[in-house]
Amino acid sequence: MQKLVIQGGIPLRGEVRISGAKNAALPMMCASLLTSDVLQLSNMPDLHDIATMRKLLEQMGVKASVQGDEMALHAAHVDKLEAPYDMVKTMRAAVLVLGPLVARFGEARVSMPGGCAIGSRPVDIHIKGLQAMGAQIFIEHGYIHAQAKRLKGARILFDIVSVTSTENLMMAAALAEGVTVLENAAREPEVVDLAHCLIAMGAKIEGAGSHTIVITGVDRLHGAAHRIMPDRIESGTFLVAAAATGGSIVLRDTRANILDSVLEKLTEAGAGIRSDSESIHLDMTGRPRSVNVRTAPYPAFPTDMQAQFMALNVIADSSAMVVETIFENRFMHVQELRRLGARIDVEGNTALVHGVDHLEGATVMATDLRASACLVIAGLVAQGETVIDRIYHLDRGYEHIEIKLSQLGANIFRIK
Ligand code: EPZ
Repeated sequence: MQKLVIQGGIPLRGEVRISGAKNAALPMMCASLLTSDVLQLSNMPDLHDIATMRKLLEQMGVKASVQGDEMALHAAHVDKLEAPYDMVKTMRAAVLVLGPLVARFGEARVSMPGGCAIGSRPVDIHIKGLQAMGAQIFIEHGYIHAQAKRLKGARILFDIVSVTSTENLMMAAALAEGVTVLENAAREPEVVDLAHCLIAMGAKIEGAGSHTIVITGVDRLHGAAHRIMPDRIESGTFLVAAAATGGSIVLRDTRANILDSVLEKLTEAGAGIRSDSESIHLDMTGRPRSVNVRTAPYPAFPTDMQAQFMALNVIADSSAMVVETIFENRFMHVQELRRLGARIDVEGNTALVHGVDHLEGATVMATDLRASACLVIAGLVAQGETVIDRIYHLDRGYEHIEIKLSQLGANIFRIK
């Protein structure tokens, strides 16, 4: 089990390059199943989840070749229409092969996702949407079996805003017969980036980024080349780390208009922020001001930034409320923060964070991807040494995080 060792108390200073967005890359890799031509993706992040998705697609027969940050995916000879449990249990995003497999091959067997650290996270919305498009679906032995001669366009109303459901059904609708309307669709930038990739492949999609997406099915899609958008959560994570340590950093290859709600909260906390078309600058002097946060679907404050912002509130000047409205169990970092000296009261999906003037280093344990990032930020702030265990969670979503943080002056290293 690898660990990270951090000597805290050093303000982050310097420049760091932001990688491609994990949550845009994952659905796009599945989009390769929709065509027998080559899909060329660039700005691909080097992450554990990307490697898992590549293995999943390759075991189906997809050819994947990587050259630097470019990945070429070729689904000309797919001979296995299945996503097995051992792969789905480690990465819930594997469910994103369901829509493309049924749309192109008329059949799919995808394992139900196991329970997840941050909540039950069912896939009922994915299933209901495909049934609305005419797929026969039954569940047996923990697997979703889906079949359809050819999917038919339908009007689908999401009763919960769901990112990967929107993505799965948008991909399925691209090859369906007729028009599909997705109402109350997710508006996340990663959904828009996927739509751009599908349109480059010949799909007819309007309204991505709004509550209503209209997809007119076509008979086939062709290959394309697409550059993956910057990772807004990695961007937000580094900005919060710089604000928490009273530093001054520049993020390259990213942009401000994909994380406005996070930048607004950082400004409220006292950070100075400037940005242009491909970089964001943050300067922070003095102690952060406490800032209330309530997560909600895009463009509101992202749930994937909740834990990181809690780390900022933990050392802020008064008290703040953090409300998690998306997942029912996304406060696993609270217990670990308390070990570092944080004062947090939790009641249901609300945490009241009382700022303390310093944290003491300790040994803590990562529980899920963004909770791990929160603990890294707390470790960068704490006095003395913090050791973070189970950092495989971090490697799922952050490309070489300790190398990037070292570039910014942090005293952080990985021990095997
Ligand atoms: C995506 O997960 C992201 N993952 C998550 O990022 C992110 O936290 C989440 O969206 C919310 O923004 C990827 O894009 C790969 P949802 P997703 O469907 O699509 C409920 C990270 O850290 N729901 O938008 O799985 C669900 O339980 C990860 O990178 C159903 O009830 O999330 C949740 O309460 C963590 N039934 C709510 O909807 C369903 O069929 C929103 O979930 C699907 C979802």
